[in-house]
Amino acid sequence: MAAGSAFGATLGLTKPAAADIPQITFFSKEIDFAEWKGDLLAVVASERDMSKDGDSRFINAVLKRLDELLNGLLGEASVEEDFKGKPGQSIVLRLPGFGFRRLGLIGLGQFTVSAYHAIGESIAAVAKAAQARNAAILLASTNGVSDEFKSTVASAIAMGTVQGLYEDNRYKSESKKALVESVDIIGLGSGSELDKKLKYSNATSSGIILAKELVNSPANVLTPAVLAEEASKVASMYGDVLTAKILDVHQCMELKMGSYLGVAAASANLPHFIHLCYRPPNGLVKTKLAIVGKGLTFDSGGYNIKTGPGCSIDVMKTDMGGSAAAFGAAKVIGQIKPPSVEVHFIVAACENMISGTGMRPGDIVTASNGKTIEVNNTDAEGRLTLADALVYACNQGVDKIVDLATLTGACIVALGSSIAGIFTPSDELAKEITAASEITGEKFWRMPLEDSYWESMKSGVADMVNSGGRQGGAILAALFLKQFVDEKVQWMHIDVAGPVWDDKKRTATGFGVSTLVEWVLSNSS
Ligand code: BES
Ligand code: MN
Ligand code: ZN
Repeated sequence: MAAGSAFGATLGLTKPAAADIPQITFFSKEIDFAEWKGDLLAVVASERDMSKDGDSRFINAVLKRLDELLNGLLGEASVEEDFKGKPGQSIVLRLPGFGFRRLGLIGLGQFTVSAYHAIGESIAAVAKAAQARNAAILLASTNGVSDEFKSTVASAIAMGTVQGLYEDNRYKSESKKALVESVDIIGLGSGSELDKKLKYSNATSSGIILAKELVNSPANVLTPAVLAEEASKVASMYGDVLTAKILDVHQCMELKMGSYLGVAAASANLPHFIHLCYRPPNGLVKTKLAIVGKGLTFDSGGYNIKTGPGCSIDVMKTDMGGSAAAFGAAKVIGQIKPPSVEVHFIVAACENMISGTGMRPGDIVTASNGKTIEVNNTDAEGRLTLADALVYACNQGVDKIVDLATLTGACIVALGSSIAGIFTPSDELAKEITAASEITGEKFWRMPLEDSYWESMKSGVADMVNSGGRQGGAILAALFLKQFVDEKVQWMHIDVAGPVWDDKKRTATGFGVSTLVEWVLSNSS
């Protein structure tokens, strides 16, 4: 572990415990649920499934049979406990003398990917409470689910279950472990296609957990050096397809990354420029992609320090959420090993701090493409680091770049905390990411790249300023990034300032990983 301070130890003496990642095997089965034996049979039912006929018997075939099997207990219990099949509702019955020790009823809202993901999370909560080691999941009706959509539903439930079971306890002095080891998914088909999909979703779950852990780690532990170390670990874990290159300050200076180094200049923790590269096993490449992530391990704002209510300085360890998504995706791609696609994962990691060596408001920095920037606000630092990262990405000869960044509070004002803003001149790339998001259930909304707004980013003394004011702040940030992208390269910027962090649960979400993975897969053949 790299030193976090002059004392040669992590400030505050905090050492994370080893991660406790749920290892769950999912099986897709076409069996009669009445034959299933184990700790918890979780039945997923919507409001419609719960409706009854004139003799107050279930109309739904699965529920009807289950109720008969249980001598009417299901009907009685659901009335008594007021279970109507609404989203978020769940009840559990203890069933001594049956093949399954407990029966869970889980309410389903809409027939969307995110609703099925939520079902997985509810099942995890029920399984945890019941201390189940194994569980089966059964949908009361699969009428609304096309054969094609079935495998997407199965993997959404599986991924929701893993994320629901996972708790990041590395920084707690005590923790309780979930016991679930295996989950049978009944009635959503079986066979090698589905098994492959479930294997992919396991890989994706591990990438989402990595992203969560990186974001949850505080800035006194996760310094730029440690972020680089964690990225290198991912590369060496899948060393057959991934390589890591870490550039130090001097190498970045040689590459003339003045914009990035300007941001890093105030910090005692040195910047680390991180570049992972995925190459397919047979070496044949048709499409080259880059995923660039904002990697501010802490953003104090600099001399334009974050003050006042709503500035969120206390959660600015999350300002590396874009890089966490990139490395999370790298971990998944390293496992899936998709053919014919090369992927570069690029992060200019540093801290935005305050000191005598730091940037002053009004300083002019020079980026690696030669463009000069008057830094009229040291808190608009993410775009300064991304500028040099984007120039570097273009120099890798890639066809497409997607960058993810916790870039602006303005994007949270525009879209709220669970939707990411996408900005791109390419309709094609917008389609690709939108299609990927329909598979994963993550939410994105395309925003305009309004060129006429560039007016407010003009400087009297340099090529541009880095901050143009409050109006359309997320758009201005995107227009700034555009200055550093080769016009021949398809590029998209994703502002993830809202969705990387769950304010209510005070924990990271792993946002972006699954959509990035689907996007890479859609570019592979
Ligand atoms: N990291 C912040 C953006 C942010 C704010 C992320 C809140 C998550 C929650 C970014 O570096 C920043 O400070 N942006 C400024 C830009 C402004 C100075 C032009 C902002 O949004 O206020
Ligand atoms: Mn900032
Ligand atoms: Zn920032």
